[in-house]
Amino acid sequence: MIPSTSSADKEHNSPSFELEHLREGCRLPVRMSTGEYREAEILSIKYDREAGENKYYVHYVDCNRRLDEWVGPTHLRLSQVTFAFRGGKNHRANASVISEASSRASSPDVLPQKKRRRIGRAPVVQPSDCLEALKIDESSLDSVSNMAPPSPGAMSTASASAAPSLRGSMTAHGHSEDALTRIRNIEEIQLGRWCMQPWYFSPYPQELVTTQQCIYLCEFCLRYHKSPATLKRHVEKCRYNHPPGNEIYRKGIHSFFEIDGRKNKAYSQNLCLLAKLFLDHKTLYYDTDPFLFYVLTEQDEIGFHIVGYFSKEKESAEEYNVACILVLPPYQKKGYGRLLIEFSYELSKIEKKTGSPEKPLSDLGLLSYRSYWSQTIVEKLLDYRQEDRDANGLVTITINDLAEETSIRKEDIMSTLQQLNLYKYFKGQYVLVLSEELVKSHQQRLKKPILRIDPQAIKWTPKDWSRKRI
Ligand code: ACO
Ligand code: ZN
Repeated sequence: MIPSTSSADKEHNSPSFELEHLREGCRLPVRMSTGEYREAEILSIKYDREAGENKYYVHYVDCNRRLDEWVGPTHLRLSQVTFAFRGGKNHRANASVISEASSRASSPDVLPQKKRRRIGRAPVVQPSDCLEALKIDESSLDSVSNMAPPSPGAMSTASASAAPSLRGSMTAHGHSEDALTRIRNIEEIQLGRWCMQPWYFSPYPQELVTTQQCIYLCEFCLRYHKSPATLKRHVEKCRYNHPPGNEIYRKGIHSFFEIDGRKNKAYSQNLCLLAKLFLDHKTLYYDTDPFLFYVLTEQDEIGFHIVGYFSKEKESAEEYNVACILVLPPYQKKGYGRLLIEFSYELSKIEKKTGSPEKPLSDLGLLSYRSYWSQTIVEKLLDYRQEDRDANGLVTITINDLAEETSIRKEDIMSTLQQLNLYKYFKGQYVLVLSEELVKSHQQRLKKPILRIDPQAIKWTPKDWSRKRI
């Protein structure tokens, strides 16, 4: 039995706990799909009539929220429960009586965040390993960040601390602590031939969410429906077989459509609702007017199927060239994220601007951007190797040159060079050293087919939005 207390603010020091002692806010080890126990917080408890027992919605501490899930009692290690109190502190109490319950496997389809990550530190390059060296023009370094290359963790720190934008269809606000929005509210969505399990909360209408296990979307106009029958009726009448807006790119089966958030409000709002299911760190707003949406599609005999998109402010004071970016789960890890990122920089090149994604980045966003920046910068540096060399055999380049040619913002270039461990101090100056290992791994990567944007296939002229009514 849990000891009786006169005040909720008192600590509970019980030797044993039972399921009925558990409350929202409690922390305890919970068995994940991998079989590993991890500290988790109970966010919600509900009675499952069919199973005849409570279900617990848990958030694994220090894990991405897409791993949050409903678990049954057998997943909970009741011997180590921490109770949350109003003062904000948690108190750990160990119970010796209740043993670990027998195991019953659950099968969430994602691995713990730590296991998914594959970020490796770049190997340290000895001068003797050097194949080629490129000299950095120090004045350009000065102009970027007072000569000091960022620390290895600087990029993520900068990302995390960047001030959120104050406007947008999805504005960065950090995690919502609103109890309702912390819990995934939709079990499944059906979009064309795909069924997807959402990762996060999205504010679809309450009546749709409370009564339905699954919501049904028209894959072309993204309108939502509560049943397959209503979707079917809609599809028979729907006039679209592609996203609205202008097709500004086509290469093979891949197209990009540009959609104006003001002219195609319903589509843009539906796209944001859909995207929010897979984006945690953004708060959704309905003002889509200041945004353009670039939707990537794959074409077949039925139509142009949405693969992913990115949004972009028509005018960005911070010179962001991407606000939100998403590849739908069935298409992830196939190079489409890279393709979207490349397209965003190609648009920036046409605008003759540098750009950067809006901060904060998600964990997967950061991985994808780091990978794109590294590949693009190494590719450029390898091009520079062909240029004229000075007496030391060095080629002079500036960070400005790299930024101009790639449209990647200088700070992102600096942090990537640091991340790749390319900076060396040589004969009194900073040089970039491309190790044999790095060149080899770059060439190895090129052997695999990579989806690339063909800049010639872009049919787009930037608009001066300061002169237009947004
Ligand atoms: N685990 C490990 N590495 C990954 C993963 C993963 N789950 N996903 C992508 N990567 C790496 C890839 O290995 C690749 O690197 P490599 O070329 O060095 O091997 C790189 O990231 C890009 O891979 P893609 O296949 O091109 O990326 P994908 O199509 O999966 O799209 C994206 C990436 C858009 C971030 C996708 O994961 C997504 O939509 N996530 C949910 C929404 C999100 O987090 N968006 C970013 C928010 S930040 C912002 O909006 C500005
Ligand atoms: Zn439709």
